[in-house]
Amino acid sequence: MTASIGEAKAVGLKPENGAAPYGNFTNYYRFNPPGERLRLIPAADLAAELPAGGGGAGPLALDVGCNSGDFSVAMYKHLCELKQNLKVLGCDIDADLIQRATESNPYPESILYVTLDIMDPASREAVLKPYLDKWHCTSFDICFCMSVTMWIHLHHGDKGLLDFLLCVSGLCKTLLIEPQPWKCYRSAARRLRKLGESKFDHFKTLSIKGDVAQKIQQFLITDCNMELVHCFGNTNWDRSLLLFKKRSSNQG
Ligand SMILES: C[S@@+](CC[C@H](N)C(=O)[O-])C[C@H]1O[C@@H](n2cnc3c(N)ncnc32)[C@H](O)[C@@H]1O
Repeated sequence: MTASIGEAKAVGLKPENGAAPYGNFTNYYRFNPPGERLRLIPAADLAAELPAGGGGAGPLALDVGCNSGDFSVAMYKHLCELKQNLKVLGCDIDADLIQRATESNPYPESILYVTLDIMDPASREAVLKPYLDKWHCTSFDICFCMSVTMWIHLHHGDKGLLDFLLCVSGLCKTLLIEPQPWKCYRSAARRLRKLGESKFDHFKTLSIKGDVAQKIQQFLITDCNMELVHCFGNTNWDRSLLLFKKRSSNQG
């Protein structure tokens, strides 16, 4: 699988051979290096939202749709000096990408990669619960959800996107999310249709459209008990980087 799909076109990647129906581009980080985002995200701002770390298990991070792991590693390096014993679990639907991420993992004691379709509740339970149990935790301190929402939305429709947001916000205390803007959807949807699987064709019936990032933000606030704590600005792919955290229960 290579960067041949609509998202690649939308951001100017050259199509190569093969398909990447889930955004599972093999050369994604050649075109979207993690540093382009991290330069917008001061480590101290992120670290301030995480528990201290130190003694035993440090903060736990979940990177949803981690692709070949480059962002997981870069984010780990970005935070590990401020957050001792930080642990990162990267998951992706694509087993080949997970194998690559695992083989090139420079920090196997701190970063683990697993194959997981985050939309499958049984697999989530089978994969995430044992990991949390191992660290005596019931949730992740932070979840990274970078350029994944569009793929979930196109494959699972409006309800799938909202279920996904409920799911990830339920899994973590803090959420860093980078939604794709609507302009990416058109070419991605066209490409998915060309792959010939009508089940991918949610695009025409989506009612969450237009300012998708704003709608995601609104849903996280009104339905997921989260509040926006930072907007780190827009990447050079024109995607906003939004940091949310769980509202404390006495805030209603
Ligand atoms: C465009 S890439 C983004 C990679 C990475 N999050 C980043 O931006 O640095 C989207 C990734 O989400 C993964 N993905 C899509 N649907 C998924 C799902 N249901 N469960 C887990 N991963 C998924 C794809 O395989 C792909 O690697």
